[in-house]
Amino acid sequence: MPDFSAKPALTGELVTLRPVEVADVPTLWTLMSDPEVGRLTGSVHHSSGEEPELWTVAELNSIYAGWMTANDRIVWVVLDNTSGQVVGEAVLNHLDEENLSCGFRIWISGATNRGLGTEAVRLSMAHAFAVGLHRVELDVYAFNSRARHVYEKVGFVVEGTKRQALRFDDDWVDCYVMGLLAPEWRG
Ligand SMILES: CC(C)(COP(=O)(O)OP(=O)(O)OC[C@H]1O[C@@H](n2cnc3c(N)ncnc32)[C@H](O)[C@@H]1OP(=O)(O)O)[C@@H](O)C(=O)NCCC(=O)NCCS
Repeated sequence: MPDFSAKPALTGELVTLRPVEVADVPTLWTLMSDPEVGRLTGSVHHSSGEEPELWTVAELNSIYAGWMTANDRIVWVVLDNTSGQVVGEAVLNHLDEENLSCGFRIWISGATNRGLGTEAVRLSMAHAFAVGLHRVELDVYAFNSRARHVYEKVGFVVEGTKRQALRFDDDWVDCYVMGLLAPEWRG
């Protein structure tokens, strides 16, 4: 059975994925406030920024504390190897042991377009398939062509469209479901 209770750190050339710690939460909270991250992950719905705070640090402390020991997910902070700083997070979640599948999400703030995200996705997929999974699935919004490009570069394919799944300002935005299977994974 694939198992997410072991949460190893994964080291690449550009990034290190380290299991999240409670001490990371204030940094993650600040980085999550990046309007670009909020828009592209579908967490905010208005470009004006006039929205109530999504989470307090105290709420995030409690959420991440649960995730640190959860058996159905691995939450890593993404460390930029150049600066040693936390620049985002990468998450394998929704482990389905019977169907050998899980979900994935990632965001990076203030360090995009330098190759860090591509390597972080590759490290995460290498781990997912190394523990015996057959399938990894993710959602990406139609206005996020950069993320879609990165996922396709790693081997994900678009499997379907959730039409008008997100409301942003006065627009409806489609959401693509993408999947990557173990036999397609090139490492
Ligand atoms: C998506 C994300 C993880 C990618 O990480 P990254 O470090 O920025 O990506 P990389 O630098 O590794 O690669 C970016 C690639 O996209 C390309 N790219 C940049 N802007 C693009 C755009 N608007 N459309 C299409 N491709 C684009 C770059 O040329 C590069 O491709 P290449 O290596 O083939 O030249 C990161 O940008 C991010 O977290 N963005 C904000 C939140 C988010 O979108 N999360 C994902 C939600 S599904």
